[in-house]
Amino acid sequence: MNILVTGGAGYIGSHTVVELQNAGHNVVVIDNLSNSKAKSLNRVTEITGKKVDFFEIDIRDFNALDSLLNKYKFDCCIHFAGLKAVGESVQKPLEYYDNNVCGTVTLLRALNKHNCKNIIFSSSACVYGNPEIIPITENCPKGNCTNPYGATKSMIEDIMMDLYKSDSNWNIVLLRYFNPIGAHQSGKIGENPNGIPNNLMPYITQVAVGKRDELSVFGNDYDTHDGTGVRDYIHVIDLARGHVCALNAIKENCGLEIFNLGTGHGYSVLDVVNAFEKVNGLKIPYVIKPRRAGDVPVCYADASKAEKILKWHAEFNLEDMCRDSWNWQKNNPNGYGD
Ligand code: NAD
Ligand code: WQD
Repeated sequence: MNILVTGGAGYIGSHTVVELQNAGHNVVVIDNLSNSKAKSLNRVTEITGKKVDFFEIDIRDFNALDSLLNKYKFDCCIHFAGLKAVGESVQKPLEYYDNNVCGTVTLLRALNKHNCKNIIFSSSACVYGNPEIIPITENCPKGNCTNPYGATKSMIEDIMMDLYKSDSNWNIVLLRYFNPIGAHQSGKIGENPNGIPNNLMPYITQVAVGKRDELSVFGNDYDTHDGTGVRDYIHVIDLARGHVCALNAIKENCGLEIFNLGTGHGYSVLDVVNAFEKVNGLKIPYVIKPRRAGDVPVCYADASKAEKILKWHAEFNLEDMCRDSWNWQKNNPNGYGD
């Protein structure tokens, strides 16, 4: 299939481009490089041996999208482009609503105009808020997002649902990711956060590489097996392959479908630290700090719907994720910035 990938230079996007090319799809990437480097796509080519057609385009730029869509005929758009830093979204809500929500509306208008009515969207488990059901099924009601970033994901889902109601020629797959970590086994592509990482794994790898002194563990008084927060960490390659499987649903005219992409296993912060230390033979110094505002105690998926309908399940375990995250970080201590 001919696939348009928005945000394809980023962390999940670049891994997905690898899996798409390996599966024989033709890929065009657009990205405004606001949180990535085009170098990631050169690395993709080193892995797959295939060139990536790349255009530096902002999804809020209707005219640029329009001329791209005049030139290429796409079977599906996989839409990763968006800002994703939870804390920053609290400081800069208008930027987040403009970039994520207005950007997606502009993208949808352009796709609609060119009759490309197939889209796969990067949603997030954060739309469940503090989930009512554990493990979380897709039927779990959406919850209150505690930050503008999460609100943008929930709003975009609603916009896409309304679009589908208005025109059932659309096929829309909403993928709710749990916590992606890990990197391609080659060590050539991985997560490249700007500044101080917000997320657990990049923080751990930066402690391991000597950029940060110690990890702060946010809270050890949750009602979990060791008191620290529990999440469903998923290898980014598994996540990327989930998109390739979702294309089959699109091909079969699935209409609007929602899938959780997680492993179904919950691990605590200290489980991750221990696994990282064990598999990489390193020590990660940490201190216990108060709970982080907005964190939920426990969040992990029931991923059986994706297994049943997409024939997809996660194959990598926590040790694989810790090994591959470290392999990326130690080979690229400054990310793509070298
Ligand atoms: P990322 O920041 O590495 O990738 C996003 C890409 O989108 C970047 O390359 C950025 O430059 C680009 N971009 C941002 N705004 C754009 C715009 N207006 N026009 C064009 N390009 C733009 O993030 P990621 O971790 O790869 O996340 C990909 C998607 O998955 C995002 O939508 C994110 O919200 C979502 N998601 C991520 C996680 C996670 O933990 N990483 C979890 C759930 C959902
Ligand atoms: C995981 C656990 C922290 C950092 C966020 C977004 C979500 C999605 C994924 C994009 C929690 C603890 C973390 C640290 C710690 N992103 N932690 N010390 O919060 O589950 O999800 O990223 O869509 O929307 O909310 O992920 O990696 O930040 O935290 O103790 O330095 O690690 O408290 O229990 P989170 P995370």
